[in-house]
Amino acid sequence: MVRGSSADNVVPLRGGLPASVAHAAAVDPLGDPRIVVRGSGPLSGRVHVPGAKNSVLKLMAASILCDGATRLGNVPAIADVSIMGELLEAIGVTMTWSGADALQLDNTGRLTPVAPYELVERIRASINVLGPLLTRCGEVRLSMPGGDDFGARPIDMHVSGLEQMGATFRFEHGYVEARADRLHGADISFEFPSVGATENLMTAAVFADGVTTIRNAAREPEIIDLCEFLVSMGARIEGIGTGTLQITGVERWSLRPVEHDTVTDRIQAATYLASCAVAGGELDLVGARGEHMQMLLHRFGDMGLDLEQYDGGVRVAAPDRLRSIDVATLPYPGIATDYKPLIITMLSVADGVGIVTENLYPGRFRYVEELQRLGADVSTSGHHAVVRGVERLSGAPVRAHDIRAGAAMVVAGLAARGETMISGVHHIDRGYDDIVGRLAAVGAHIERH
Ligand code: EPU
Repeated sequence: MVRGSSADNVVPLRGGLPASVAHAAAVDPLGDPRIVVRGSGPLSGRVHVPGAKNSVLKLMAASILCDGATRLGNVPAIADVSIMGELLEAIGVTMTWSGADALQLDNTGRLTPVAPYELVERIRASINVLGPLLTRCGEVRLSMPGGDDFGARPIDMHVSGLEQMGATFRFEHGYVEARADRLHGADISFEFPSVGATENLMTAAVFADGVTTIRNAAREPEIIDLCEFLVSMGARIEGIGTGTLQITGVERWSLRPVEHDTVTDRIQAATYLASCAVAGGELDLVGARGEHMQMLLHRFGDMGLDLEQYDGGVRVAAPDRLRSIDVATLPYPGIATDYKPLIITMLSVADGVGIVTENLYPGRFRYVEELQRLGADVSTSGHHAVVRGVERLSGAPVRAHDIRAGAAMVVAGLAARGETMISGVHHIDRGYDDIVGRLAAVGAHIERH
């Protein structure tokens, strides 16, 4: 696996956490920093793409399954890693940074299967401790998960799948309580390939009695990363990368801790592609995994980007002006919903009219109002956004409402005349490892205040 080296952004260790993570985790929304971007371009140079938030958080949660020291590499220095670390500490797994992009998780086996509200409400991925804790401890008390501000995100598929495996649930005072003396295998069919439900059932099935089959399972690269991690620990999983996963339960003692590099972040990679697309120039995204972004790269090609995939990265050259396209978000291998704010931002300065259809989160258009403040011509109706490209955006104060919307504001700022001041930066810090430093290093006019 290609390691997206964060060595260029080496952060000194402070109290066991890289300083940038400690800083990001400590940010009080009232004292939130600002990112200031000025219209930039052309960009030029190399960007090292870090490990994926949506993989590393799941790998961390899965370390609950196995006693001993799990070592993770290519770990992004982001606030969510820090919050997940705090949650694991509350459960009984100690996290220590062992380098700028490496951490160790020490599991002594003395676990408290309770995930408290104060931590869970800050991070949706906390739901990922449900499967591992239930299968290891036979019971879990988990606050209902929070996460991003784009609509209700139920966990009915997690619950129904675990019930089919023999768990019983109780919902009280904002907590989910689950019990199962020993889970058993089941044949589970998802109506929709939920990422989180696939991960939870897969980890729960590792110690279940017999074979668990998950049909219509999610197939994201981050799911494959988790499967490979579990298999290297000693789990038995077949059908990796397909829509049907088969997990054969193993005995607890047969799992051993491993060292594993987190898969590179396709969403962060896409953010740097989008940055180059609107600012112009040429970038080399070192560590980007083109094979994980095939559909997106194809559509970016339709917009006029010149893309070259090589073993260990993706090179991109921007056209003079982007062309508009129509796009619909879909589960992997379709265009991910997390790319959508970036695509709408690109379309807002493209030539022509593009229609974007959201099929995963109906409420995920809130950042459109912020783009409108920058002069974008976007209208939304239900699940659709119609984007009429303008020549240039114009800088203004804007707010990041969630991680990806925040990244889109940064990209929009690059495409805007004058200054764009972004607040709500703690959202960006949740999922982006030094976006400011990475963009500044390739010529963007961007600072953090
Ligand atoms: N859903 C249900 N019931 C369930 C599970 C999901 O109705 O039991 C619905 C959700 O409400 C949502 C849709 O199905 O409308 C997608 O949910 P899914 O379970 O696939 O997503 P997730 O696991 O909650 C992960 C990422 C998201 C990403 C989605 C889709 C993490 C921590 N989060 O969420 O990433 O958008 O998959 O690809 O992995 C982000 O990184 O900014 C982010 C939001």
